[in-house]
Amino acid sequence: MSVILCRLDEIADGESRGFEHELEDDDIEFFVVRKGQSVFGYFNDCPHIGTPLNWKNKNFLTLDNSMIVCATHGAVFRIEDGHCTAGPCIGQSLRTVDVSCESGNILLHRLGDITL
Ligand code: FES
Repeated sequence: MSVILCRLDEIADGESRGFEHELEDDDIEFFVVRKGQSVFGYFNDCPHIGTPLNWKNKNFLTLDNSMIVCATHGAVFRIEDGHCTAGPCIGQSLRTVDVSCESGNILLHRLGDITL
């Protein structure tokens, strides 16, 4: 089973959006980054100390939208695979959320080990 998160055009190309999904009485926070027709999903959970990546705003990206950034201590992660390339958790990665774009919709398929 998959869940429609939103339409692709609800996220501007190169930008990000946070989501919550209720699962077994827990609200799971994650976010999606759009690059053209491709989408990349990650848990909102920094591998450094486990805080959400966005702090006071809903943005998950650097000012030039080229990388994902953690607002707490500034770790930066590649959009395409969530690998940390600079900061206190360099070499670690964000946990992926399985999303795709089909027929103009962004679909959520899996949250970590959990298939919807
Ligand atoms: S909590 Fe993200 S860099 Fe420290």
